[in-house]
Amino acid sequence: MRTATNKADKTSFNMNRLPPELQRQLADVYEGGQIDDALAVNHIYQGDARNFLPKIQPNSIALSIWSPPYFVGKEYEADLSFEDWQNLLSTVIALHFPIIKPGGFLVINIADILVFKDATMPKIQAEVTSSKRSPVTREDVLNAMAEHPTYNRYQIAKLLGCSEQTVDRRLNGNNIRGGKYEAQTRIKIVGGLIEEWGLKAGFYLYDRRAWVKDAAWENSRWHSLSYKSVDEFEYLYVFWKPGVTKIDRTRLTPDEWREWGSRGVWFIPSVRANDDHEAKFPLELPRRFIQLLTEPGEIVLDCFMGSGTTAVAAIQQRRQFIGIELLEEYVKLAQINVQKTRLAQQQSKLTFISSRLCDLSVAPMRCESSVS
Ligand SMILES: C[S@@+](CC[C@H](N)C(=O)[O-])C[C@H]1O[C@@H](n2cnc3c(N)ncnc32)[C@H](O)[C@@H]1O
Repeated sequence: MRTATNKADKTSFNMNRLPPELQRQLADVYEGGQIDDALAVNHIYQGDARNFLPKIQPNSIALSIWSPPYFVGKEYEADLSFEDWQNLLSTVIALHFPIIKPGGFLVINIADILVFKDATMPKIQAEVTSSKRSPVTREDVLNAMAEHPTYNRYQIAKLLGCSEQTVDRRLNGNNIRGGKYEAQTRIKIVGGLIEEWGLKAGFYLYDRRAWVKDAAWENSRWHSLSYKSVDEFEYLYVFWKPGVTKIDRTRLTPDEWREWGSRGVWFIPSVRANDDHEAKFPLELPRRFIQLLTEPGEIVLDCFMGSGTTAVAAIQQRRQFIGIELLEEYVKLAQINVQKTRLAQQQSKLTFISSRLCDLSVAPMRCESSVS
């Protein structure tokens, strides 16, 4: 229930400097009241992001960073049609506008859909030139079949000293890529959709970066039968909500700014062990954006929380977080990862205190056995 005016954010942002149309569009958002029973920080909620986002305190999130279902057939998106998927993403983006702080950011990590089924696409006939190296001709195959009418294709192939595929090709022509009966697949670019949904929600596309991961050879079913590249990079779309944005260059060291802060392409290996979650992003991704775009103590949101990577990065950077995740098993996994991170943090604090005590010679006899 909205009860009061959000005065703090109103004063920090001069609406009068915006075009009148935008002033009208934003008025409701900036004057939106607080929610009494809003979601608590440093919690992970189980359920559909669309149900929980409206319960987040308006104008409270400094950064929301997430990687949604990509519509590539993972287990957690198996029931989604393409329309469902579009509805999920466009709704989630729209629901972000009221909750992001004025001047704050929404970062979406996503990839193009490389195997997008399209029943209208003509069948691609792959003419594999290397297969023509076999001197066996259609004539040879037909003669052998006439001489040995009881032989099957494998026996004919053995007789002619070629492969069974060569016999098939000489009889039936070229391979149909992906099988004769399967729908063909093409590439679906998602950046345009994301941009459109972001603009419609009221955001502006502020930046975009490419994340180069390692080449996923095992995912490229076609690489031996086409000229297509392997799946090797993803995008990071950075949306900005109009408002005052603090630009603080001290958030990064000069080396960090040179190495990644100012760079459009980030080379970060993907997570090798996807044994507990099938689509984790590397910790380094949310870590960099949190460091660059937020202040200590601010709230970072991930509404497709998965294994909890964003929460872990937020804790390590001394920020607060809110997580939302559909599946119970991943909520539990994320909670365990959060707990481990907090324990590790406490451990290192204790180690630090103990070493300081040693430096100060408070406990000279115990200095060699640091806290473990
Ligand atoms: C690409 S994964 C995110 C992985 C995460 N970044 C990590 O590092 O572990 C997408 C996650 O969104 C969850 N999900 C799918 N549909 C959802 C929905 N409607 N609301 C909330 N979470 C959803 C899936 O269960 C999955 O864990």
